[in-house]
Amino acid sequence: MLERTFSIIKPDATKRNITGEINSMIESAGFTIVAQKKIKLTIEQAKKFYEIHKERPFYNDLCEFLSSAPVIVQVLEKENAVADYRKLMGATNPENAENGTIRKKFAISIDQNSVHGSDAHETAAVEIKFFFSDVEIVG
Ligand code: CMP
Repeated sequence: MLERTFSIIKPDATKRNITGEINSMIESAGFTIVAQKKIKLTIEQAKKFYEIHKERPFYNDLCEFLSSAPVIVQVLEKENAVADYRKLMGATNPENAENGTIRKKFAISIDQNSVHGSDAHETAAVEIKFFFSDVEIVG
C-alpha cells in the first residue's frame, strides 16, 4: 500500500545548493515528491516542530539551526515510505551512516545532518499536517 512520509531538507543543504542532488537520490530510490515548498521557519515554528525533543540538551541549538536559513519541506510517497526513507537517509550521526545514504554523502555532523524524516506513520501524518494543512496533496 502506498504510504506518505514527511521530509525536511535542512539549512546546511539549502545553503550548499545541494537540494537537487538530494531530490535526485530520493527519486532514484523510488519515491514520488508529491508536495514540496521552500520556507524559512521562525524559531517558534522550529520549537513547535521539534517539541518532542524539548527536554534534550541539544533542543535549543537544534531549533536555532533549523530556523537559521531556508529549508525545503516535502511529502514523499512510496510503498513503505516511512521506513524506506529512514533507510535512505542513513543514521542520524553521519559517522555511523552507511554508504549510499543521503547523510553519508552530504551530512556535515549530527547537528547539520542535511535531512529529517518522520519516525513513524502517525508522526508523518502530524508533520505533514503541520506544514501542508493549506493545500490538497493530489499525488
Ligand atoms: P532529526 O532526524 O531531524 O531529529 C532531531 C535532530 O536532532 C536530529 O535529526 C539531529 O540532527 C539532532 N541531534 C543533535 N544531537 C542529537 C543526539 N544526540 N541524538 C539525536 N539527535 C540529535
